[in-house]
Amino acid sequence: MTASSASLALVGVIAIILLVAGTTEARVRSSAEWQGRRIYQVMTDRFSCTDNANAPNCNVNEYCGGSYQGLVNQLDYIAGMGFNAIWISPIVQNYQGGYHGYWATNWFAVNPNFGSEQDLINFVDACHSRDIWVMLDIVVNHAGPVGTDYSQVYPFNQSEHYHSMCQVSQYDCFTEEVYTCRLADLPDLNQTVPFVREQLTKALLWALNTFQFDGLRADTVMYIDQGYWSQLWNAIGQPYIAGEVWSSFSCNLAYAQYGVPATINYPLYYTVRNVFQSNGNMQQLGTAWRQQATLPHPQWELNFVDNQDNDRFLQATSSIPCYKSALAYIFFTDGVPTVYYGTEQYFQGTVSDNTNRQALWPSNYAQTDMYNFLKKVNGAYSSLNVTNYPVEERWQDESFYCLIRGPMMLCTTNTDSQSQTRTIPNLPFAGLGTVCDYFSGGYCQNGQATMTITINAGDSPILIMKQQ
Ligand SMILES: *[C@@H]1O[C@H](CO)[C@@H](O)[C@H](O)[C@H]1NC(C)=O
Ligand SMILES: *[C@@H]1O[C@H](CO)[C@@H](O)[C@H](O)[C@H]1NC(C)=O
Ligand SMILES: *[C@@H]1O[C@H](CO)[C@@H](O)[C@H](O)[C@H]1NC(C)=O
Repeated sequence: MTASSASLALVGVIAIILLVAGTTEARVRSSAEWQGRRIYQVMTDRFSCTDNANAPNCNVNEYCGGSYQGLVNQLDYIAGMGFNAIWISPIVQNYQGGYHGYWATNWFAVNPNFGSEQDLINFVDACHSRDIWVMLDIVVNHAGPVGTDYSQVYPFNQSEHYHSMCQVSQYDCFTEEVYTCRLADLPDLNQTVPFVREQLTKALLWALNTFQFDGLRADTVMYIDQGYWSQLWNAIGQPYIAGEVWSSFSCNLAYAQYGVPATINYPLYYTVRNVFQSNGNMQQLGTAWRQQATLPHPQWELNFVDNQDNDRFLQATSSIPCYKSALAYIFFTDGVPTVYYGTEQYFQGTVSDNTNRQALWPSNYAQTDMYNFLKKVNGAYSSLNVTNYPVEERWQDESFYCLIRGPMMLCTTNTDSQSQTRTIPNLPFAGLGTVCDYFSGGYCQNGQATMTITINAGDSPILIMKQQ
């Protein structure tokens, strides 16, 4: 062997090592590693087109043209608000019209409407180069609406791959009906069949390895029993998975104990909507928080105020102070804060006509007051290292609520037409000098262990901390 052929051989060996490393190592992150992440949720089809200047008007019931390249083009917009994770729509090929991604027909191919495999790799790379993590949304409960023509589905093309036909009528967890019948007539995969189980794992490993996702959101989790989820979680490297359990708290508890590390925090969602959208008693926040504390890992829950399946917050109220208060609350209480695209543009659509999924491009990605508010919330969250500190309640009554997290106190009201004043003990501000409201720069006073706090009408939320 000559020197040059030896070095050629060495180059070859290195290339093979790189190839193997590149194709077999998933980079999924654990639940603990997701602490400190703030997620911006997009519907891939609705966030940004490759060429927004020439984008069509969006008919919300059909594909509108959003793409991975469009996401790359608008990463500054997301990063500019301070988010460091993005949850995108399910990536796999879908049944005709499946712009939302929840109608899989091929678990091993990307949905060409959003771009090519290479476009998706490029998007995830662009995110990682900015320390933004990407969350993969998965559906393993059902296929797209093919009726009984399973030949349209890959690789689950036999009737034996599905449960026998029936329809879900009662949406409650732990029932045979929910486990085996069809949700909205979507063919229900039978995960007891070894082929189905093996291929689903294989498909997820393919997606995680090929595109290097950091964590997962799992659809329709309570439609499959907990045992399936815990084996899947182990088989794919024990990543962070936030599972959709949309029922009562006891269901979230059971799945968080024995199925997935975390759930989509619907119990908190209902409480936050009730309190800040409908002026419900604010003591419900404390009740929900104490209930959440009974989960194995309350701080891993995926907190949200809006998502793709519900009316937007502003549908039922026009109060921006209440909206901001709800958002600030889901950031600073236990959980991983998640904001649905369009929040920053005051979107107010409904589920009934699908306008809760409208296209973002007509907004021109304007840096609104809400955009700047979210930037401030993300900024405080990260610079104060809030995940290093436990959440502690400091005040709760019908219309005033304060929590402490380390060096800061968040106070909110659910009335924006009245000024509210409370005298609050046990504060961490003695000896700090002047403390102020971080959002407005106002409300300054000398920091003390007991302080009288006023929120003027329309100024909720306030975040008290040492003057910067
Ligand atoms: C089902 O898929 C397998 C392999 O994926 C293929 O060999 C078979 O022909 C398909 N059957 C039908 C009915 O499409
Ligand atoms: C699911 O698959 C298992 C294993 O093949 C089978 O015993 C069971 O009857 C199937 N369940 C339904 C509801 O089809
Ligand atoms: C937050 O953590 C960083 C890095 O560990 C540190 O430099 C900074 O001082 C911390 N900030 C606060 C307010 O504790």
